[in-house]
Amino acid sequence: MKQLSLPTNSPLLSKEFTFGVATASFQIEGAADNRLPCIWDTFCATPGKIADNSNGLIACDHYHNWENDIALIDSLGVDAYRLSISWPRVIKADGSLNPVGVKFYTDILDELARRNIKAFVTLYHWDLPQYLEDKGGWLNRNTAFEYAKYVDLVSEAFAERVYSYATLNEPFCSSYLGYEIGVHAPGIVGREFGRKAAHHLLLGHGLAMQVLAKNSPNSLNGIVLNFTPCYPVSQSDADLKATAFADDYINQWYMRPVMEGKYPDIIDQLPNEQRPEIHPGDMDIITHPLDYLGVNFYTRLHYQASDDDFYDERPHQGPLTDIGWEIYPQALTDLLVSLNEKYTLPPIYITENGAAMKDTIDNGEVNDIDRISYYQQHLTALHNATEQGVRVDGYFAWSLMDNFEWAEGYLKRFGIVYVDYHTQQRTVKASGLAYSKLITNR
Ligand code: NOJ
Repeated sequence: MKQLSLPTNSPLLSKEFTFGVATASFQIEGAADNRLPCIWDTFCATPGKIADNSNGLIACDHYHNWENDIALIDSLGVDAYRLSISWPRVIKADGSLNPVGVKFYTDILDELARRNIKAFVTLYHWDLPQYLEDKGGWLNRNTAFEYAKYVDLVSEAFAERVYSYATLNEPFCSSYLGYEIGVHAPGIVGREFGRKAAHHLLLGHGLAMQVLAKNSPNSLNGIVLNFTPCYPVSQSDADLKATAFADDYINQWYMRPVMEGKYPDIIDQLPNEQRPEIHPGDMDIITHPLDYLGVNFYTRLHYQASDDDFYDERPHQGPLTDIGWEIYPQALTDLLVSLNEKYTLPPIYITENGAAMKDTIDNGEVNDIDRISYYQQHLTALHNATEQGVRVDGYFAWSLMDNFEWAEGYLKRFGIVYVDYHTQQRTVKASGLAYSKLITNR
């Protein structure tokens, strides 16, 4: 299979639907000497944290190649580019704007506008300035206010250039992976930390929404959440209960406060020291109305009852991508339909979907038919969700190009464009060609 297709009447093929590609600052930019250090620099420098002992010092060297990279994006024919702003690049240690960093992004935004590509800007994709981590990072309530100050300065500087802002990317990963199980920066471990970090991230989100409503009222302003739908291993009461708990703990913990101003009811089952400290008024700030909800989707997980904990997570089984995640597109349909039942949703954008595959380049070609098949199955699953009444306004492939895959370093390739890290040469993979064709044939 070399092509992607959708039913001719699919809303995904209408002119109003947005197709894009996505990246994030730390994963592609490099040029670390041009910005403040961030928590991922520190984490990468800690032995044993990154699978290939790599770091983000050079990455795809997008900082120096951005003009070619944007021409490449344009050549794919996409409607939109989702990028993130490196907070430590645009802010100095005294909290003021760094004009060099700001210019890097305004140049990119101007070039996107010139090429008629909508800019979807993520304001926080995990690269917290290290000086703030030194004061407690997301465990310090003040970081939410520092974040809102940064958003104020940068959104004012970007003026009308941005089509859509996302306050946070995947606060689950920042809080749970970063401050509870410690597999992401800053690598802190402890059940007593994850929910506290999450609360400060969500507070930062709400404060940033207020700032954006003031500085950028014409852009679509929202948040990007990742969902890993939870399935029970059996229909026993105990397994169903464990699965519902897991869903509340990893998925609804972020969704419900944003949509309804409340944490899931399981908060009452958590020991006191694991609960966030919620100040009066916080939940009202967090539940600011959204212009859209960004949904990142990759896989699902199975759960069962545990003897000594709230749930047990089963390792992935079945067809897997190269990063070891199950390929189960039906979960995308199920997820969107169930969110639509549970909540009054704003328009949804799938802000990330894609697969790591073992790519090889032969004679200048990457024939990644397994990735094309992943995209085909997930676009069909998305179409099916729209048939069941879910409003979806856009879809972004993760990722534009291979890049620094966090704790996996450069070992896992998610791009629809291949990157040779020695030469920095980009080669559009078969999946990139298929994606481009789907879009340009509309
Ligand atoms: C989620 C993150 O937003 C992105 O940075 C990451 O590379 C992909 N998923 C794949 O893991």
